[in-house]
Amino acid sequence: MNNTLGQPNNITGLGGLAGNRIILRRLRVVDVTQRYVDWLNDPEVNRFLSVKDKHQDMDMVKKYVLSYEGENNKLLLGIFDNKNNLHIGNITFSSINQDHGVGVIGIAIGEKDCWGRGYATEALLLVVDFAFAKLKLQRLEAGVSEDNSPSQKLFKKVGFEECERANGKLKFMISNSEEKKNASKKPV
Ligand SMILES: CC(C)(COP(=O)(O)OP(=O)(O)OC[C@H]1O[C@@H](n2cnc3c(N)ncnc32)[C@H](O)[C@@H]1OP(=O)(O)O)[C@@H](O)C(=O)NCCC(=O)NCCS
Repeated sequence: MNNTLGQPNNITGLGGLAGNRIILRRLRVVDVTQRYVDWLNDPEVNRFLSVKDKHQDMDMVKKYVLSYEGENNKLLLGIFDNKNNLHIGNITFSSINQDHGVGVIGIAIGEKDCWGRGYATEALLLVVDFAFAKLKLQRLEAGVSEDNSPSQKLFKKVGFEECERANGKLKFMISNSEEKKNASKKPV
């Protein structure tokens, strides 16, 4: 199934990614609602996020969203429930280096009613597929706190493997299976 709403081979032209229950699309300043700001300030949501260190307001969040505009090595995608168009979370895709084939992924589901219902799994699968199939990246990485077991389970479920542990953080990684297949075909 082709679930890419745009047909880019880079992030600049990405229209969106459609799953069964969600749409991922670039977050814009007009998407910044008080509800979104409130989840960033919720200690249960932000416990493992860098925003926990500074109380967020509308202006700060708008500036953050704007900081992604026009960038071609990072992407901020909103996760929207396609039934009611509710903005339920975000995926960040940063340090995208198409020359070196690497990108770093972060995820948060801010609507707590949506936790444990498979939304993050669906969103991550879409982004991983996009990164490998369209951007032709070879490797994706994610940093997860040792104490964040839901997030560790999530990344493992999607196929990431733990590859490093330092200073209370785990590094997870997934490689493009096509690359693996091609590597195994190379003569020794
Ligand atoms: C971590 C987070 C993204 C998971 O999102 P989610 O939509 O609830 O995840 P899913 O429903 O897709 O579940 C994926 C797996 O995670 C695990 N999981 C989810 N919530 C869990 C919980 N509260 N406790 C234990 N495991 C949990 C489950 O094992 C699940 O796999 P399963 O369906 O086979 O049981 C979400 O809890 C969140 O945004 N938390 C706050 C921000 C955060 O910590 N972000 C990650 C920073 S690295």
